[in-house]
Amino acid sequence: MKIAILPGDGIGTEIVAEAVKVLNVLDLPFEMETALVGGAAYEAHGHPLPDSTLNLAKAADAVLFGAVGDWKYDKLERSLRPEQAILGLRKNLGLFANFRPAICYEQLTHASSLKPELVAGLDILIIRELTGDIYFGQPRGRRIAVDGHFPGAEEAFDTMRYSRPEIERIAHVAFKAARLRDKRVTSVDKANVLETFQLWKDVVTEVGKEYPDVALDHMYVDNAAMQLVKAPKKFDVMVTGNMFGDILSDAAAMLTGSIGMLPSASLNANNQGLYEPSHGSAPDIAGQGIANPLATILSAAMMLRYSLNQAQAADRIESAVSAVLSAGYRTVDIASEGTTRVGTREMGDAVVAALTGAT
Ligand code: NAI
Ligand code: MG
Repeated sequence: MKIAILPGDGIGTEIVAEAVKVLNVLDLPFEMETALVGGAAYEAHGHPLPDSTLNLAKAADAVLFGAVGDWKYDKLERSLRPEQAILGLRKNLGLFANFRPAICYEQLTHASSLKPELVAGLDILIIRELTGDIYFGQPRGRRIAVDGHFPGAEEAFDTMRYSRPEIERIAHVAFKAARLRDKRVTSVDKANVLETFQLWKDVVTEVGKEYPDVALDHMYVDNAAMQLVKAPKKFDVMVTGNMFGDILSDAAAMLTGSIGMLPSASLNANNQGLYEPSHGSAPDIAGQGIANPLATILSAAMMLRYSLNQAQAADRIESAVSAVLSAGYRTVDIASEGTTRVGTREMGDAVVAALTGAT
């Protein structure tokens, strides 16, 4: 199992070091190789995604990514900015399925914007299609309207598009992911208004027949938004297009209240994936040893489950994280009264101790 380790900038190096420590105590045959990415790579090689880094990522079964970016690169031309590295990796690895879990540990329900009883134990997975939809559909542009409500006025237009194969491949990903969870998929669409999402609904329904062990239901996106804040625990896997997924996944993330806890993944057709925390490089706290490494450690768990076929090891890491929270360890972003304040390294050590039974 080859893993490319790309720590990046800011807190990226600090949090990835803890995830690597956790992977190392699992006693599995990993080959881990580290490379520079983002601002760190720009400093050393003049480019945020050097060929050597890209080739390492391509050759790996999975990529564990920290974060990139810093205010000091804001004046660079766009193609050299650290954030271009993540776009380049997505494109070159063909990553089309974005996994955004919203997990709320019982111990952290106080941080949610919802009542504790609505989110305690929340564990849902939003799968967002990343390459199609209105974000990339052609034609698009501006023109002077020749018809419509205001002929002669300036207007702008975008095109919502999905092809059958694009929908098929994301649907397969969703059903396979559901098999590793509670075996329920909710496909979110707007088929009542949009032809694109009528095709989406038809294709997801067809693909679903190949997964008779997984329950499928369909929900309009407006209702899905309402249900997410009303009774989020009733979902298991939600699968949707690029734009609806963008919006719903951010809303779902906030239900859990803490950016330092949320992992994410982007997968391609070969289950090769890039795993990273949902947060950025946090330049405001970088170098202080206080960043929460749990989102990255939980991203490593997702990597084991979805790319490396090691679901049991993933479960072990997730239980260890829960045990550490139960024991009261808290980094600054999740701190509350009556808990023990720890730094990045101590939090990583606590997870390692929980895994090795050394507590
Ligand atoms: P951010 O997520 O880095 O930070 C937002 C706030 O949350 C900050 O106050 C930060 O201290 C805090 N925070 C984030 N992660 C934390 C953790 N693990 N533990 C404790 N506190 C944490 O977002 P921001 O400030 O908007 O962006 C900073 C830089 O990161 C920018 O250059 C941005 O472009 C980049 N970025 C990179 C991403 C990536 O690498 N995929 C994603 C998002 C932003
Ligand atoms: Mg967003």
